[in-house]
Amino acid sequence: MTATIKSEDDVKKMRIACRHAAEVLEIVEKYVLPGTSTDTLNQICHEHIVYNQNATSACLGYRGFPKSICTSVNQVVCHGIPSEKKILRSGDIINIDVTVLKDGWHGDTSRMFLVGEVASFAKRLVQVSQECLYKAIDLVAPGTRLGDLGHVIQTHAENNHYSIVREYCGHGIGKVFHEEPQVLHYGSPNTGLILEEGMMFTIEPMLNAGRHTTKLKRDGWTVETSDGRLSSQWEHTILVTSSGCEVLTARNDESL
Ligand code: MF3
Ligand code: CO
Ligand code: CO
Repeated sequence: MTATIKSEDDVKKMRIACRHAAEVLEIVEKYVLPGTSTDTLNQICHEHIVYNQNATSACLGYRGFPKSICTSVNQVVCHGIPSEKKILRSGDIINIDVTVLKDGWHGDTSRMFLVGEVASFAKRLVQVSQECLYKAIDLVAPGTRLGDLGHVIQTHAENNHYSIVREYCGHGIGKVFHEEPQVLHYGSPNTGLILEEGMMFTIEPMLNAGRHTTKLKRDGWTVETSDGRLSSQWEHTILVTSSGCEVLTARNDESL
């Protein structure tokens, strides 16, 4: 397994693409309300990317994906397709995943939103999955190995009686949307690629309330938990720096 090392000039462009992706999640937040369709959220994000950011969505048309963002509600693990028929209801949890392509570079990030009043068991899953992402980010530095990241995520999830989805993982990113290395969200310490300054990748753990297994719906995109229980995901794009890391997709609601 290898990873490309980005130059200072590459990093400058990635910072812009990633800030745009984070900004989309910031601006869409106030629209994530009961009664809103996921297609409306798609339209808001799409227009912001195209008309305000002068960029494009890397998702739109990617391997035939029909929309500009992914909207994954409740038991949907990832890659949910926005639809005017999917109306948010109070109690739902939703992941919105945004990948902006700006000046040839990709910024990829996702977060969970709570819709209206959400049950405490669902809030807990959402919180623990965010903690998994942050615990992995805390470890990112030259010399850390990818297995260390997978291990800290898996351990925190399983200590809380949640399971980690295996079929989908984080990825190297840059001019290419998905490149090496694969960033698994489970694993053993002191195994896998050794991180170096200038590497860039996403970390995007998916935690399930029940079993870790998933099924692909007949639309060819929507991934659901096989037992129908809840799933939650958070994603950032990260740069390895000399002293640690920079979270390129950090939002203004975070202290990273
Ligand atoms: N943004 C997703 C990721 O984190 C990929 C979405 S691909 C799409 O890698 F086609 F479903 F949009
Ligand atoms: Co990603
Ligand atoms: Co993503």
